[in-house]
Formats: sequence, structure tokens, C-alpha cells
Amino acid sequence: MSAESELKRRQRRWRSMLWSLVAILVLSVALPSLGYVMAQQFYGAEREFSEDRATNPRSDMWRDAREGQGGFTTQTGPYVTNTLISNVGENWRQIRTGPMTTWGGWFLIAVPIVIVLFFLVFGRVKLEEERSGLTVRRWRAYERALHWFTAASFIILAITGLSLLFGRTVLIPLFGPQGFAAYAQGAMYVHNFLGPVFSVALLAMIVLWIRHNIPNRTDWQWFKQGGGIVGKRHPSAGRLNAGEKVWFWLGVVVLGIVVSVSGFVLDFPIFGQTRETMAIAQVVHAVAAIIWIGFFFGHAYIGTIGTEGALEGMTRGRVDVNWAKQHHDLWYEEVLSSGEQPVSEEALKKSKADRQAGTAAGQASH
Ligand code: HEM
Repeated sequence: MSAESELKRRQRRWRSMLWSLVAILVLSVALPSLGYVMAQQFYGAEREFSEDRATNPRSDMWRDAREGQGGFTTQTGPYVTNTLISNVGENWRQIRTGPMTTWGGWFLIAVPIVIVLFFLVFGRVKLEEERSGLTVRRWRAYERALHWFTAASFIILAITGLSLLFGRTVLIPLFGPQGFAAYAQGAMYVHNFLGPVFSVALLAMIVLWIRHNIPNRTDWQWFKQGGGIVGKRHPSAGRLNAGEKVWFWLGVVVLGIVVSVSGFVLDFPIFGQTRETMAIAQVVHAVAAIIWIGFFFGHAYIGTIGTEGALEGMTRGRVDVNWAKQHHDLWYEEVLSSGEQPVSEEALKKSKADRQAGTAAGQASH
């Protein structure tokens, strides 16, 4: 393959990746914001809040009531009855607006800073040998479709979820209380509907890839050699290396299950969940999701800027032979012993053209 066409292909890849990311970011903010526009359209001036209505004038009275004794209420639902102000609710509110947002916020700022520092110190893991121009198949089309659907849903859920958690601190100053209320309502719908769909995709991913993630002795050696990032020699690895297996087991399986189950408890309060259960589920859900998002930053970094040649396995489905030998040597040997031969770019193009010609001829004969 000529250096020029390789450069063009790389530029095209980066451009489409960048635009997909921009589109996801813009849509996940713009779509829920439609709520704001529609609220204006339907309710117009009626919904205009004056500055003094933005803060509840009775909040002092309710704060006083919290100090008081139990009383009598008409509440008959599964939650606490005869309690004017629930301590569970108030304690939960304090955790949510206190340590959860403060520590969670700092954590989400710190992780990208650490990643940038890591990049500045260790740089990109480059290909040690020039590209060979020959590739082998790494991920099938349905695996890639599932991966990118999960990734796009994850990003939308993260943006909408964080908007709800940090809205008071970050978004109210930007959108104003009325704008934020409409955006938050849209974000909540998106989050609540997409969450269960994401969990199903996640389950499919676990079932599909669990067989590649069974730990073995090679993983231990991989850890001892620092994954090849520290030290000179690149450690041996099978189809997936030990770092990827950690992401699979801790990130996708453990955090995935914790976030999905707690999300389910919050999304469907029809199983007699008490107020206490809901409060605990919210804390578990948010804390696990924040840790997961931090983990995800690391995964997305390693899969893109961090490792030259890794992303094309998940976009085109094929990787260069020299990438395979460098990062997953044992897997590459398995591929060869299964009878699959590395294919050049020209041969791939030709077989694609032959397939298309075959289909066209087939259609013409009908
Ligand atoms: C923009 C975000 C993302 C990027 C750029 C990305 C990139 C990649 C790449 C390049 C690979 C292939 C690695 C290889 O061939 O060895 C991969 C594998 C994988 N990705 Fe992602 N990914 C993203 C988001 C996600 C999300 C949100 C999840 C799950 C919630 C996820 C789960 C996985 C899993 C399970 C694998 C297989 C490796 C393993 O089992 O550990 N990815 N990703």
C-alpha cells in the first residue's frame, strides 16, 4: 500500500471518529433540550419564573418541620407514613449534594488529568515494526456493531446521568432554573429509557466475550512486565491481554451489574421498594457509575490515542499483522494455525469487488 493512500485512510478514519464523537455529544445535549423549547412553545409566559419564585419561599418552614416529631399524614403508599419530613430522604439529600457531588466531581476531573500526564510521560505505544500491509480479522461485524452501540449508549447515559447529578452546580448557572428543569426532564426520559436497553446490550457483550476473558498464566506474566508500558519487552498475550481482562471483569461485568441492578430498582419502583431502598439504590448507582466512567476514560484512551493500530480492529474489523504480533502474539499464532492467512489491502479490495459483481450478476439474472 502506498504511503499516500495509507495517510489518506488514516485521515479519513480520524475525521469520521471525531465527527461521530461530536455528533454523540451534541445530540445528547440537544435532544433533551427540546423539552425546553417545547415548554416555551406550549406554556409560554405562564411558565416564566420570576427570580424570587426560583427559590422556594417556604423552604425555611420545611427545614423547621424536619426538626420536629412524627405527625399524621394521608400517605398510604409503600413509603413512610405519618412522617412529615423523612430523615432517610433528608440524609440521602445531604449525601447526594455533599460528598457524592464533591468527591465524584473531583474524581471525574482528576482521571483525565492523570491520563494526560500518563500520555506526556509514556507517550503512545507505537508500532515497533512498520505496517506490513497484510491484515488479519480481529472483530466480526456483529461484535463491532454491539461494541459501538454499547459505547454510544454508555456515553449518552453518562452525559444525561451526570447532568442530573451535577445539574444544580453546573447547569443551573448556565441554563437558568427553568431551562435546566426542562433539560433535566428530557435527560431523565432519555436516561430512563436507554438504561434498560443498554443493560441488555451489556449482557449480550458479556455472554459473547466471556470466553476470551478467562484468566490464565500468561496474564500474570503480562502484569509482572507492566503490560509492556514500563520496561522494554512487550509481554506475550492471547486474544485479549490482562489489562483488557481487568476492564472486562471489573468494568463491564462487576460495575455493569451493580449499575444495571441499582438502575432497575430506581427505574421500576413497582416492587414495593421502600424510600430507604430507593435512597441506597441511588447512592450505589451514582457511585458505581462515576467509578465506571473514570475506568471508561482509561479504556477509551488506550483504544484510541494510547495504542497505535488498536482502533482499526474495532472499526474495520481487521488489524495489521505487525500489530497482532506485537500486542497479541499468542493469538496471532492461533489465527495462523486455524488456517486463516493474512490478506493484503489489494486482495481485500478485489474480493469485495468480486462479491459486489457477483451480487449484481445475481440480481441481473433474476
Ligand atoms: C468511545 C469509547 C470507546 C472506544 C474508543 C473503545 C475502543 C475499543 C477498542 C479499540 C477495542 C479493541 C481492543 C482490541 O482489539 O484489543 C475495544 C474492546 C472492548 N471494549 Fe471498547 N471502546 C469504547 C467504549 C466501550 C464501552 C462503553 C464498553 C462497555 C461498557 C466497552 C467494552 C469493550 C470490551 C468488553 C472490549 C473487548 C475487550 C475486553 O473484553 O476486555 N468499550 N474497545
